[in-house]
Amino acid sequence: MIPESFIQELINRVDIYDVINKSVPLKKAGANYSACCPFHNEKSPSFTVSPTKQFYHCFGCGAHGTSIGFLMEYQGLSFVEAVHELAKIAGMIVPQETRELDTPQKKIIPGMQEALQAALNYYRAELKKSPRAIEYLKGRGLSGQVAANFQVGYAPAGWQNLQSVFPQYDSDVLETIGLVVKNEQGKRYDRFRDRIMFPIHDQKGQVIGFGGRVINPEDTPKYYNSPETPLFQKGHELYGLFMARRAMRDAGRALVVEGYMDVVALAQFGIEYAVASLGTATTPFHIAKLMRQTDEIVFCFDGDNAGLKAAWRAAMNALSALTDGLKLSFLFLPSEHDPDSFVREFGKEAFEAKMKTALPLSQYIIQYLSAENSLQSQEDKVRFLNDAEPILQQIHAPRLRLLLSKRIAELAGVSQDEIQTLIKMPSIQRQKQAMPKQVRTPVSIQRRFLLMLLMRPDLVNGEDLSLVKGGNEEDHLLIAGINAAILYPSSKPAAILHHMQDKVDAKLMREIERELQLLDDSLDIALEMSGARKQLTEISHQRSHSNLFDKIKEKNLSELTDEEKTLLRSLGNSQQK
Ligand code: UTP
Ligand code: MN
Repeated sequence: MIPESFIQELINRVDIYDVINKSVPLKKAGANYSACCPFHNEKSPSFTVSPTKQFYHCFGCGAHGTSIGFLMEYQGLSFVEAVHELAKIAGMIVPQETRELDTPQKKIIPGMQEALQAALNYYRAELKKSPRAIEYLKGRGLSGQVAANFQVGYAPAGWQNLQSVFPQYDSDVLETIGLVVKNEQGKRYDRFRDRIMFPIHDQKGQVIGFGGRVINPEDTPKYYNSPETPLFQKGHELYGLFMARRAMRDAGRALVVEGYMDVVALAQFGIEYAVASLGTATTPFHIAKLMRQTDEIVFCFDGDNAGLKAAWRAAMNALSALTDGLKLSFLFLPSEHDPDSFVREFGKEAFEAKMKTALPLSQYIIQYLSAENSLQSQEDKVRFLNDAEPILQQIHAPRLRLLLSKRIAELAGVSQDEIQTLIKMPSIQRQKQAMPKQVRTPVSIQRRFLLMLLMRPDLVNGEDLSLVKGGNEEDHLLIAGINAAILYPSSKPAAILHHMQDKVDAKLMREIERELQLLDDSLDIALEMSGARKQLTEISHQRSHSNLFDKIKEKNLSELTDEEKTLLRSLGNSQQK
């Protein structure tokens, strides 16, 4: 894990203005900055960035967050990746390199990226020179425009063409990044020969690998991909994601297909939100990556047997990444089609209409489990429950799991209680939910105090903790806030909130972020805060009074502590007045 103190320092040190302004030019608007929102289409700016709060917020679509959040959303980075990116901007070194699951182990050698880019430039130039390759692409119906968008290239026939690009052809870098292969005799040659080249980009748009398709139908394998390299991990990357991001947001969904040509052909026909897993099964990483862009994912695999298998594997791999806010569905094409041939034959509208009929994951699971099970005999039902068990056990999304287990119980002829005792399910974690629509309700006094202390943590003192005695969620929240403020009195609001995030429900967290962003910039925070503190003090007194009364009802006066007696006296006084 990256130490929390480092993240605090990072958020405090980097100005969110600089981070966002790089990709979305900002204009000064009062105390804030504004722009047209990069996360939805709009003509007049409703995206604001607050340098005092170190938050961004869009009044149009509700997008909001810290500079880390912005990088995650805008570049589709994971948290750890975003922290690294931000550290780079700040010129800071991330302490204690993390080994989190979703950070590839990197042994990045300088020059790898540059070499891949040089190879890409070469392949693209070679495509222009090869009438045969151009003919092939045209024959598959690709326009020059789409080929250019996807930076399609051509690796000519011949064993050592890359020597003309890389004078140091023997360099280990070329082997490490998979452009050059060394045979048993130690002789080096180009990995890709006489192939159409599809570059694979990371989320920043940098080329990290290639897929090469044969032109000559006799050659094998049909597709040859870059090997796994320090820059390229197949289980993490999706072909076409960089190009598809914007369209995914606009369409509100992502389409996952099997092949390079599927992605390219779909884009050609106006479906630009498709990506492909790279000749591997869809992994939970893939799902998590897509979930950062959209909350609806449609899988559309080939109609053949291999496609059906891939769909089921994708479904099973998605289970652990599911949330109740995510909609996953599966589109099965007629067996003679893949997405490429289908969209070519029937067009965009037909394809999108077909997508509407895609089978939701839960139905797909039920259908699959009961396809070869008539559910007639006891034994059938036992097998059904056996098959369902590992599936249910992997789902952490509470609502989804409840409904699925209900349906499974029904089909097996057992009650909901019985299935709960039969199938031990892991405890449900707090999960990211779909973002609720923006509603403004008056905030409680606890909440108001919290907002003020986020703005001015330096004004908080240890005694404030004594103001919160209740055990409800708001109280817990406030306690977490006070503790964070005491710990980081000179931090920015975004940094303090970040520190609290493990202790607070994610949904609540987003609510606070939004309230904070909506806070009037002209408020005198110190004044507001002492006002809120006064009110909290009264509430706290009232509460101890009513507790006291409850006690007195049960106890004799002699059993009360001195403190309680004093309180009782003062209460009597105040009531006489
Ligand atoms: P397909 O065999 O379905 O090919 O492989 P396709 O996408 O329809 O390709 P075209 O239309 O014939 O050009 C689907 C995907 O599986 C991976 C590739 O990622 C391919 O796009 N694959 C396939 C390989 O990695 N190697 C292969 O030999 C074949
Ligand atoms: Mn195909």
